[in-house]
Amino acid sequence: MRAIRVHETGGAEKLRLDEVRVPEPKAGEVRVHVEAAGVNFIDTYQRSGLYPLALPFTLGMEAAGTVSAVGAGATGFKPGDRVASARASGAYAEEAIVPASQLVPIPKGVDSNQAAALILQGLTAHYLACDTFALKPGHSALVHAAAGGVGLLLVQIAKLRGARVIGTVGNEDKARLAREAGAEEVVIYTKDDFAAAARRFTGGRGVDVVYDGVGKDTFEGSLNSLRPRGTLASFGNASGPVAAFSPLVLSQKGSLYFTRPTLAHYTQTTDELRSRTDDLFRWLAAGELRVRIGATFPLADAAEAHRALEGRRTTGKVLLLT
Ligand SMILES: NC(=O)c1ccc[n+]([C@@H]2O[C@H](COP(=O)([O-])OP(=O)(O)OC[C@H]3O[C@@H](n4cnc5c(N)ncnc54)[C@H](OP(=O)(O)O)[C@@H]3O)[C@@H](O)[C@H]2O)c1
Repeated sequence: MRAIRVHETGGAEKLRLDEVRVPEPKAGEVRVHVEAAGVNFIDTYQRSGLYPLALPFTLGMEAAGTVSAVGAGATGFKPGDRVASARASGAYAEEAIVPASQLVPIPKGVDSNQAAALILQGLTAHYLACDTFALKPGHSALVHAAAGGVGLLLVQIAKLRGARVIGTVGNEDKARLAREAGAEEVVIYTKDDFAAAARRFTGGRGVDVVYDGVGKDTFEGSLNSLRPRGTLASFGNASGPVAAFSPLVLSQKGSLYFTRPTLAHYTQTTDELRSRTDDLFRWLAAGELRVRIGATFPLADAAEAHRALEGRRTTGKVLLLT
């Protein structure tokens, strides 16, 4: 089968299209025939070596398609079932292995592209808005990169929970998308001061929570956007990882809370995973959550997809089609 593999870490040029053996599922695992693989920022961290993996490896965590083989003891799935996962091993391939505990059936009416576009970034937006800082009516939230994959979903889920949202984006086209998703206010943070805008948005007080997947470039401004005892949920490094800082800074800026969450710890059990995906698929069916597939690439063009994502040229979801 064809697979996109990393033999040495580095830039997008390190992605190689290889011909490899079809993997066999071990006990508790399921093999999925991949129709659509999601491209996520974490894939670029694994490719670059920021998040180290043993070499060589097949890239990709997010896949949707049909079950092609079931390992011993992997109950609940049979060949032909339509499934998706945010925890696949080697999703940038024609076949990928997934622990059965991390696999979700795709409901009728949802196609593989939509499922691959929703599952990883949707689960992330869900846990951030519902648990990391559980938004309620009356809360105000600042969402960075609000026209991105996580961003557009997070803005919509924050609105479903009754919060007011201010988003940041890199350009005017992205600002329009963030507004359409429900953001009351959008700041182009490449030219305007988003912390000052967040204060204006809240009558000077500061927002209750900042959801920050940008990292290094926005860290300081994110702290400056918060109300006393507000929460900075720092969930990514699109501009590079946040530098080391003194906890005293949190005291000086208003007894702030800082957390650095990751999806695996919010989908630890199948029950937790399913309760989140049930919400996502229900909202999708009801038209309360829209998934934007901003770009699709053939599997062989994975490097182009990475260049577009890292070059800030994408909106919503980027998919690789096998
Ligand atoms: N912790 C978790 O559980 C978890 C799970 C999923 C994703 N994430 C994180 O969430 C963030 C968003 O991921 P995503 O896959 O949805 O990507 P994305 O938001 O679709 O793309 C990243 C966006 O970040 C913005 N950005 C700002 N500075 C940038 C820079 N120097 N280089 C590149 N992009 C920059 C760009 O939007 P503008 O042009 O509008 O600035 C870009 O489009 C990433 O940090 C990712 O690692 C975390």
